[in-house]
Amino acid sequence: MRLANKVAIVTGGARGIGQAIALRLAKEGAHIAICDVQPSTDTVALIEEHGQAALALKVDITKESQVKEAVDEIMAKWGRIDVLVNNAGITRDNLLLRMKESDWDLVLDVNLKGAFLFSQAVLRPMIRARQGRIINIASVVGLMGNPGQTNYAASKAGLIGFTKSLAREVASRGITVNSIAPGFIASDMTDVLSEAQRKALMDQVPLGEIGLPEDVAAVAAFLASDDARYVTGQTVNVDGGLVMD
Ligand code: NAI
Repeated sequence: MRLANKVAIVTGGARGIGQAIALRLAKEGAHIAICDVQPSTDTVALIEEHGQAALALKVDITKESQVKEAVDEIMAKWGRIDVLVNNAGITRDNLLLRMKESDWDLVLDVNLKGAFLFSQAVLRPMIRARQGRIINIASVVGLMGNPGQTNYAASKAGLIGFTKSLAREVASRGITVNSIAPGFIASDMTDVLSEAQRKALMDQVPLGEIGLPEDVAAVAAFLASDDARYVTGQTVNVDGGLVMD
């Protein structure tokens, strides 16, 4: 129970990797606020099964007023925010020549601006408490690129730069900021890939299998805990060895 009585926010926690992170942080003892555009009923039920408190808030992370309201509500309920996991993310893939401006904007808004808005909103309570953990879910695509994903790769590379800059800004306040770069993880986002695409990807993964949302959640739990007190500004790849720096 490394997070006993802490309060953690997980954006995009209604399903997939965000749901696994929310559940894992709850199992470590944290109260969880899930902020998602879709209902988070399943995640709340899973967390409550483990005897932890969960609050589901309907939030579009691209809207500053909704983000601020959510943070106010969480502070009113629990009086503290220890951990923020910026997990919500989307893809709108296309070759650059065919990419619509609206698909560029939407991906950058959700994946990058959403993390900016949420991080800004939680910083005051974290600075006051002189402690905090911000964990950004990036992607190996932000490190290695991927054809058809210029918008997504730019957003995830941006998130890694954001992580390093914010880590430097708030280190003296006792707040750490790190990224996780998942590789190929089983989820709704990757279910849409064809068998051929899957095989081509697996051929590049030294560990030879698809990752699970729980693999990402385990690293998030570590970064959220005191075990990671001396780790900041880092990007941890959870990718079966796909990218080795
Ligand atoms: P997912 O599509 O299953 O879940 C994303 C969640 O974010 C959904 O619950 C969705 O409702 C929510 N969301 C989307 N737009 C939102 C908005 N504007 N405001 C609030 N919530 C919003 O995706 P998955 O696979 O669980 O991915 C989670 C994160 O991990 C994303 O940032 C993704 O880019 C990243 N990732 C996923 C990989 C994979 O293989 N699945 C690989 C690398 C990174």
